[in-house]
Amino acid sequence: MQSITVTDCHLLGRAERVDVVAEAGVITRISPTGAEPPTGPGPVLDAAGALVAPPYVEPHIHLDTALTAGQPRWNVSGTLWEGIERWSERKHTLTREDVLARAEEVLRWQVAHGVLHVRSHCDVTDPELTALHALVELRERVRDVIDLQVVAFPQEGIVSFDGGERLMARAADAGADVIGAIPHFEDTREDGIRSLEIAFELAERRGLLVDVHCDEIDDEQSRFVEVVATLARRGGLGARVTASHTTAMGSYNGAYSRKLRRIVARSGINLVCNPMVNLTLQGRFDDYPKRRGLTQVKEMAAAGVNVAFGHDDVMDPWFPLGTANPVQVAHAGILAAQLSGQDEIAEAFAMITERAARVLNLGDGYGVAIGRPANFLILPGTSPFDVLRRQVRPSHVVSRGRLVAETPPAPTRLTWPGRAPETVDFVRR
Ligand code: FE2
Repeated sequence: MQSITVTDCHLLGRAERVDVVAEAGVITRISPTGAEPPTGPGPVLDAAGALVAPPYVEPHIHLDTALTAGQPRWNVSGTLWEGIERWSERKHTLTREDVLARAEEVLRWQVAHGVLHVRSHCDVTDPELTALHALVELRERVRDVIDLQVVAFPQEGIVSFDGGERLMARAADAGADVIGAIPHFEDTREDGIRSLEIAFELAERRGLLVDVHCDEIDDEQSRFVEVVATLARRGGLGARVTASHTTAMGSYNGAYSRKLRRIVARSGINLVCNPMVNLTLQGRFDDYPKRRGLTQVKEMAAAGVNVAFGHDDVMDPWFPLGTANPVQVAHAGILAAQLSGQDEIAEAFAMITERAARVLNLGDGYGVAIGRPANFLILPGTSPFDVLRRQVRPSHVVSRGRLVAETPPAPTRLTWPGRAPETVDFVRR
């Protein structure tokens, strides 16, 4: 039976060091270090007191558009709207092989960074559904290493796009896991509401999750989160529903914000903030003062709402940079949402791990505990705070009880006045 043993681990919330043993892809033992010998014939890794944490979870990425920046033209204005125009030009040239190659490359980056669960949106405003078919195929091919959820995302609308509703149903038939929507992009407020009703009806009929691109605009009049939350509550869907981006929240007045926090908290829906991309896209039509254009991360979390951080775009028409590394996302989120308190920084780590897992509805399939899948990271740091401050990479990534990524230390040879030349590892101290 295939096994793996990791000794001298620091688990969050546990004072003593432990050994973690996995057999046949499942965690079978967590015991005080050295109390019992390693189990089975598999490898034994010495964590040397490092943090052992559940894998990172990417709750919001667009694998179908990744690595297309500048194709056929760059987004010069930097707005969301020009991004949609550039993408609609590139979309006509998609092939199965093109989508598979780009998406798989980014999944490989993610595994190297310690991400083992991914929710990818996929534009289905394409009569051929080329990208959706490719991502569903890829999901099956990589499932022994990484979980992929595919969202049927109507980039150009459901009601306002010719045949949009039919394409959403076809995407569900073709294997989408999650139903999306984009109400702020629909032509009218009424179309936006109708698009949400269509999305919720489809999701409920097929037993699928819901993840809406919602209010991604600097317009204080864009108020679809209240509709998403209310449909989720009345339909009893609660945490099976997510509102992503929700950047108009950065422009809402205090009175409405207070009302909205109650509506969202009562519904049980999740929010996903994408700080790197929305700091880049929002506020483009402002003079000074220039708005941040982000979800009310702190305030919603304080109201009891599950908030997570997502990467969103990786080198595509909306965002020219990106590494697919959630630690970078959390770092940006800490700056953008002003999460500077010790507890808040620890919470930012949860926003790329446990809170993001709740967005994906992973349930008992997530976490370092006996009986759960053997998916975990060895992080050469002392705490989540330490990991985020120093931006440490996982030294080892274990998926389904197998070591799938290993990153060696990268020491620096430093010459300093008054000291002999020395080799210092600034990353893995
Ligand atoms: Fe997005």
